[in-house]
Amino acid sequence: MSGLVREAKTLQGIVAMDGPSGTGKSTVSRRLAVACGAAYLDTGAMYRAATLAVLRAGLDESSPTEKIVAVATAADVESVTDPTAPGIRLAGEDVEAEIRDVPVTKLVSAVSAQAEVREALVARQRRLIDAAVAAGGGIVVEGRDIGSVVTPDAPLKVYLTASDEVRAARRRRQDARAGRAADAKATLADVRRRDRLDSTRAVSPLHAAKDALVLDTDELSVDDVLTALLGLVEERGLCSPTPR
Ligand code: DC
Repeated sequence: MSGLVREAKTLQGIVAMDGPSGTGKSTVSRRLAVACGAAYLDTGAMYRAATLAVLRAGLDESSPTEKIVAVATAADVESVTDPTAPGIRLAGEDVEAEIRDVPVTKLVSAVSAQAEVREALVARQRRLIDAAVAAGGGIVVEGRDIGSVVTPDAPLKVYLTASDEVRAARRRRQDARAGRAADAKATLADVRRRDRLDSTRAVSPLHAAKDALVLDTDELSVDDVLTALLGLVEERGLCSPTPR
């Protein structure tokens, strides 16, 4: 439990966290969920796992779209929503490490741009969200279209941003920690390539929902962002004291 939390509180309802990669979204979303005793759903991991299924089927970007869509929509993707040990499984296998590798990162924007793939995964995301809320609890959901499409009624929507350069530098540090050395120029180019694909696709393009609170994280540490989020959750009355 984070030292920033003065008193144990439980989140009720949905916090939608959107924004491009490298904004610290995953780290703060997960820490917010832990701090508030909520579930945590990484929807990007679901698109990545479906993309891994496509690659494992021997397909790539040059394959017929119908084949890619058929494999991605049928993929047996399972998310573990415990923020202290989140995970993603493909046909029962833990694929958390493999979905972060370069081949998946290169292909995922093309797979996630397909309307049928989005429809299938959004339906699963809504089921997981409904289950968390029906149990009287809360869930922090991160992605690109959570506030705009998946849960447009979420009582708190946050859109994290940061400059391309800051996001690329964060990506390189993350890659280095995972043992993937990457060139600075190539990482910046890849960050920009994915942003372009994610924000110009026809279906559910990346954008801040009208009622989302936009937070620029260029000058903010993870702790700063978490403090701001905890304040917002409290301000909007989404917290109740944890029963003891
Ligand atoms: O957050 P991430 O980098 O793991 O996401 C991987 C890709 O999945 C990203 O290029 C965009 C896509 N994505 C999406 O289209 N919609 C979401 N809700 C989450 C991710």
